[in-house]
Amino acid sequence: MIYVSAPEHGEPSDPAMKAHALHATVTALLAGDKGLLAMDESTPTCNKRFAALGIAQTEESRRSWRELLITTPDLSNSISGAILYDETIHQSRQDGTPFVKLMADAGIVVGIKVDTGAKALAGHPGESVTEGLDGLRDRLTGYAALGARFAKWRAVIAIDAALPSTACIAANAHALARYAALCQEAGLVPIVEPEVLMTGDHTLQRCAEVTEQVLHEVFEQLHVQRVLLEALLLKPNMVLPGLTCAHQESVDEVADATVTTLLRAVPAAVPGIAFLSGGQSPELASARLNAMNRRFKGRAPWALTFSFARAIQQPALDIWRGEPGNVQQAQRALQQRAACNRAARQGKYADLADAAD
Ligand code: 13P
Repeated sequence: MIYVSAPEHGEPSDPAMKAHALHATVTALLAGDKGLLAMDESTPTCNKRFAALGIAQTEESRRSWRELLITTPDLSNSISGAILYDETIHQSRQDGTPFVKLMADAGIVVGIKVDTGAKALAGHPGESVTEGLDGLRDRLTGYAALGARFAKWRAVIAIDAALPSTACIAANAHALARYAALCQEAGLVPIVEPEVLMTGDHTLQRCAEVTEQVLHEVFEQLHVQRVLLEALLLKPNMVLPGLTCAHQESVDEVADATVTTLLRAVPAAVPGIAFLSGGQSPELASARLNAMNRRFKGRAPWALTFSFARAIQQPALDIWRGEPGNVQQAQRALQQRAACNRAARQGKYADLADAAD
């Protein structure tokens, strides 16, 4: 039961009922040690992934790929919800069955990316602010009518010797909080995603400091905008050394740094933390999530789960390459990564964790 303040006289909807529906969605997303499949790449990002493998960059290719993902047998054994892109939520399987119906039939909760992308932040070279607030209230109503029950908004924070700026953190935290408030008003659970990038040669310590600073600002803004913490999921980066940093910490060190940072900045009222993979290999992303669940079992106040895109999809995409004859093998690879991450939620991915050290 979530406590919410009493409705004002004459207020049309009952906040307690709304909170109850949001809570039911959060519970469904976190149930059974399952996690989220992020398949919400924008068209340019999806095309970039296709181009790297020589796959045609057409609407039909993107539809076929998303059909492969959604129709993977037994996907719902490990995946509770999937995040779609605007193009995808309107698409259907080859036989005309809408993707949202297939997902509902499989018991997979429908999510939708609602930001319109990270754009250059004026006056701050190398930094971005995520846009999409204009008209968002109406778009959220439309997505809810299509069957979406949760949403996602990604803010991007770059690190270098001088970055991030105070302005970048403030602008992105403000936008995330405004988005989250609108989502809850529309009955959608917001996934709040402030991503501190892995790109660069910064140390793990520096990533920890920046991540903590960003999270403090995000939760301050969520409080200011009256967002109900019990009815959101946080989607942060793991605390990692930069990709080109000479020293790469072990799986256990990453797990400790990540959870320590989150404990300092994320209120216990938040029900779940669903990590992005951010360019880690699929095996390392699973191993690090596994180590967090193993080492902090019973001590972390929130569920530690996954909302990976590349770390679930990439092995399957490498197999598919746009060839209909490769669909079944690609689906098996997807199923396997999804199952590995469910095991990581349970702290049962131990063998691979050791191998990844
Ligand atoms: P990755 O897991 O590939 O980082 O993607 C997660 C995501 O949803 C980015 O917004």
